[in-house]
Amino acid sequence: MGRLKVGVLISGRGSNMAALANACAAPDFPAEIALVLSDIPGAGGLEIAAGRGLATATVDRKAYGSKADFEAAIDAALHGAGVELICLAGFMRVLSADFVGRWHDRILNIHPSLLPAFPGLHTHERALAAGVKVAGCTVHIVRPVVDDGPILLQAAVPVLDGDDAASLAARILAEEHRCYPTALRWMAEGRVRIDGARVRIDGASPAAGALRNPL
Ligand code: GAR
Repeated sequence: MGRLKVGVLISGRGSNMAALANACAAPDFPAEIALVLSDIPGAGGLEIAAGRGLATATVDRKAYGSKADFEAAIDAALHGAGVELICLAGFMRVLSADFVGRWHDRILNIHPSLLPAFPGLHTHERALAAGVKVAGCTVHIVRPVVDDGPILLQAAVPVLDGDDAASLAARILAEEHRCYPTALRWMAEGRVRIDGARVRIDGASPAAGALRNPL
């Protein structure tokens, strides 16, 4: 069977895109990146992608009169590249319900919190302000509401006394780079069973024990 063709949508530096590209570089990985698309001209991730020989495209919102036209251009670029699954990787635009519906159960997102806590922007600042002792990241199937949808995988990290938003973000980002390729592999292997809000992964082992912080 062929490898699943993935379109990665970015708006910025693209470290999650690079983590996905690293995973896809293994010959036995069941997915490949068919296109890296940015809504921001000159986004750092575009250069990284091109440097790895990946196809890139820019669809600049400012070049389109309406959101529908903008999304139609994204859709066309993805279909033109043969994309079968979309990975949002720091893509900072909200996709319409129409777009999400056209790609139903075929869009993944990664978010740097333990959703449904702290969706949206300034995630780490809000986690620190709330005083949580554990933070983390979430990979989920995209639904029309921002940072909402069936959860495939979460990783938790401790929040440390000296943390600021940057140090917490860095600790979570390291987990993002592990979680996203894992979730993509599961999707590509057809092991993801979505049942309402709940997802089961065929053959995945449950984690043992708990992360408690502080001890
Ligand atoms: C990542 O932390 C990702 O989880 C977050 O943006 C960052 C992008 O970094 N996404 C969101 O907040 C989406 N709601 P990257 O460009 O280095 O992958």
